[in-house]
Amino acid sequence: MLAARRLTWARVRSAAAVMRPRGHSLPQTPRLLNNAACALHTRNRTAWQKAETTDDFTVSQTKPGTIIAAVNLLHDQKMLQVHWEDGSVDSYPYIWLRDNCQCPNCYHPVSLARRVMLKDLDLSVACVDVKMSNGGEGIEMLWTDGHQGTYDAHWLHERAFRGPKPEPREREYRLKQQLWGRELQDKLPSVSFPEFLRDDHTLLTFLESLEVTGVVLVSDVPCEIDQIYTFAKRIGRLKPTHYGETFNVHSRVDPNNLAYTGDSLDMHTDLPCLAAKPDIQILHVIKQFTGEGGDTMISDGFTVASKLKKNNPEYFDTLANTLVEFVDVGIDDGVKFHVSWRAPIIDVKVDGSIRTVNWHQMSRNSRFQVSSSEAAAKWYAAGLAFRDLMYDTDNLVKLKLQSGDMIVFDNLRVMHGRQGYRAEEGERWLQGGYLEWDSVRSLRRVLRKEMAA
Ligand code: OGA
Ligand code: ZN
Ligand code: ZN
Repeated sequence: MLAARRLTWARVRSAAAVMRPRGHSLPQTPRLLNNAACALHTRNRTAWQKAETTDDFTVSQTKPGTIIAAVNLLHDQKMLQVHWEDGSVDSYPYIWLRDNCQCPNCYHPVSLARRVMLKDLDLSVACVDVKMSNGGEGIEMLWTDGHQGTYDAHWLHERAFRGPKPEPREREYRLKQQLWGRELQDKLPSVSFPEFLRDDHTLLTFLESLEVTGVVLVSDVPCEIDQIYTFAKRIGRLKPTHYGETFNVHSRVDPNNLAYTGDSLDMHTDLPCLAAKPDIQILHVIKQFTGEGGDTMISDGFTVASKLKKNNPEYFDTLANTLVEFVDVGIDDGVKFHVSWRAPIIDVKVDGSIRTVNWHQMSRNSRFQVSSSEAAAKWYAAGLAFRDLMYDTDNLVKLKLQSGDMIVFDNLRVMHGRQGYRAEEGERWLQGGYLEWDSVRSLRRVLRKEMAA
């Protein structure tokens, strides 16, 4: 360590020339990715992607050209201090800097992937020397492990440790959701199917509305089977479940699901019986029932959960902390299934925000994983309060979809149900399927970036 500290830039350069023909292979440098691994990472990359030099598609907080005025090392704190031209100062931990070295041996410039694994890091790594490069547009750091790292000023500035990240960066990560209730009646975000297919701006509007509001109507869809594939291809791929890649909701003589009858359907999120329930649901109305009934109800589960938290925090905690078992047993297309998963009604993240609501009374198992009969009894009052809020007219939107409509909604957030109808008096036929948030957010980031260019 002491010996390493005595390294100087000149000595490292000459040592490098002798030891490393191409500039790298010092003792603690991670093994290079082999060719196969590189090929794997680079597959399907377009020239456009290859031109990227950052690890994500961030909206810049700072302009390229951010200039460093001075740098100094705080050895006791193991921090690098950067003084910016505008007078502000940021500090960066040594270990983070070494971990995130942007030289091509530590960060693959084509596959945009970290090559330094945690096991390659020495917690006591320290900077021996630092100097500015390109008139303050970058810095070079010499480490006790002999490595010489390079960092761009703009890159560093964007990654400053300054508490909550500025809004544009957060918007790139996730769009802020807007909770809703009855005010959305007759005002659901909507796009027309032909426009959605033809125009990227409409596609982006659709993706953003889905993320913000959690529900979008798509109109003018041809009343034919499998239009859902044409729709989904515009975004990604349909996510299959034990009901197949798509499912048809119409009354059947041998229903393996209550949806395949004319019964009313209590509002629910689909398939909480799965460890990863579907993120986004698509329902295409190929033929609506022309008599009375068959209407759709939707309610924003995050609105309901937030109101419950405000009105009765104890009920909220009960629903957040009690695992409910969901189960689905049957046969579809000749294949038997038995799926089961335990989840709380309100699933809360570590930061206190809600990940998802799980509400599906039809598949709630009588086996209840609670520690006592008192806990089981207590859960019902909380569950009923949640249910009452969901059906409260303040929080409910009710509409009769028409043949040729498609409704797309966030199945992690929005609960949906339907009014019963007399199946023997006429036909009603919906085709459904699921999408994943990853593909929706990914496409939203890509489109935004392309449109901003
Ligand atoms: C379902 C469902 C709604 C409807 O099949 O899960 O919610 O309107 N169907 O039939
Ligand atoms: Zn490096
Ligand atoms: Zn459903």
